[in-house]
Amino acid sequence: MRVLFLGGAGMIGSAAAAEAAARGAEVTVVTRSEPGRPPAEGVRALRADVRDPAALGAVLGGAEFDAVVNWVGFTPDDVRSHPELFTGRAGQYVFISTCSVFGRPVPQLPITESSPRRQPVFGYPRDKIACELLLEDAHRTGDFPLTIVRPSHVYDRTVIPVLAGWTAIERMRAGRPVVVHGDGTSLWSLMHARDFARALVPLLGPGHAVGESVNVVSGDILTWDQIHLTLAAAAGVRDPLLRHRASESIAEHVPGWAEVLEHDFRHSMLFDTSKLRSLVPGFAPEVSFAEGARESLAHYDAHPELRTVDHELSRAFDALLAD
Ligand SMILES: NC(=O)c1ccc[n+]([C@@H]2O[C@H](COP(=O)([O-])OP(=O)(O)OC[C@H]3O[C@@H](n4cnc5c(N)ncnc54)[C@H](OP(=O)(O)O)[C@@H]3O)[C@@H](O)[C@H]2O)c1
Repeated sequence: MRVLFLGGAGMIGSAAAAEAAARGAEVTVVTRSEPGRPPAEGVRALRADVRDPAALGAVLGGAEFDAVVNWVGFTPDDVRSHPELFTGRAGQYVFISTCSVFGRPVPQLPITESSPRRQPVFGYPRDKIACELLLEDAHRTGDFPLTIVRPSHVYDRTVIPVLAGWTAIERMRAGRPVVVHGDGTSLWSLMHARDFARALVPLLGPGHAVGESVNVVSGDILTWDQIHLTLAAAAGVRDPLLRHRASESIAEHVPGWAEVLEHDFRHSMLFDTSKLRSLVPGFAPEVSFAEGARESLAHYDAHPELRTVDHELSRAFDALLAD
């Protein structure tokens, strides 16, 4: 199978490229700059800005692909040219969207692929919805072989998957309290990039997933307290001090978090994964969050340059807790 990844050298894309290559696919990755992560064995690298249709067309020449995966579509302008560019030369075009497209508060849990997509305010999911609609229109009215894939929250060893990132770990290790939004019991789902890759690759190709949208989500359901406690355990902290504050109060002290808390993280997320399991029979995540968290902490502990503390955020936490 010939697979083209547009911008597929990032955190999730590189895991998927490695998985596809390991399963025997001929993988080509297009990035606009030298990727920070070296491509996996056997992956071919091309250089172009994928948002520039002329540059992308030139670098691809007349090549044809069984599947094209776009990892870097964020606004309709990023994907507008793709139906014309890829119809007839790709057996499938996979748009990597996000589960944040589903309207919050969620009218009915669990979320399925037919849950309402709605976001009038928060730009990231609002624009992803606009991309989905544009591409769906091309699929409905032409021969554009679209599949929409929606990750939820994906991490790997290079990520501490809480908003405070490494600052939270430093505070826990120093015995200082860490702020968790709400009362720490809202539900969230995390998926390791290797598991995402294992779920994605069987969806690729001109077959059963064309015309479908699929939420690629791990079955692992965690509360935000559990997420912090698991990270603390991986960091060797026995009794971390977690302090709960309303999302609104946090947003007063950390304005940059207002949108993501209000329109995403504060809401309990629970996904029905039956469509993924029917399209990828036998798929089950293999990396528990406890294991993934240990991997991340080991990676950060081995790389001092990653351990940056956001002192402004830390001061905001202190001010919030003193309030
Ligand atoms: N992480 C999550 O939890 C999550 C959740 C839901 C959805 N998603 C979706 O997953 C996708 C991100 O995947 P990822 O984590 O693998 O990506 P990533 O880590 O952001 O990396 C993207 C790669 O593409 C390159 N790139 C960016 N813009 C480009 C352009 N115009 N032309 C060519 N190359 C370009 C980047 O290079 P530069 O260094 O030059 O920028 C980088 O190598 C996004 O669509 C995002 O919405 C992620």
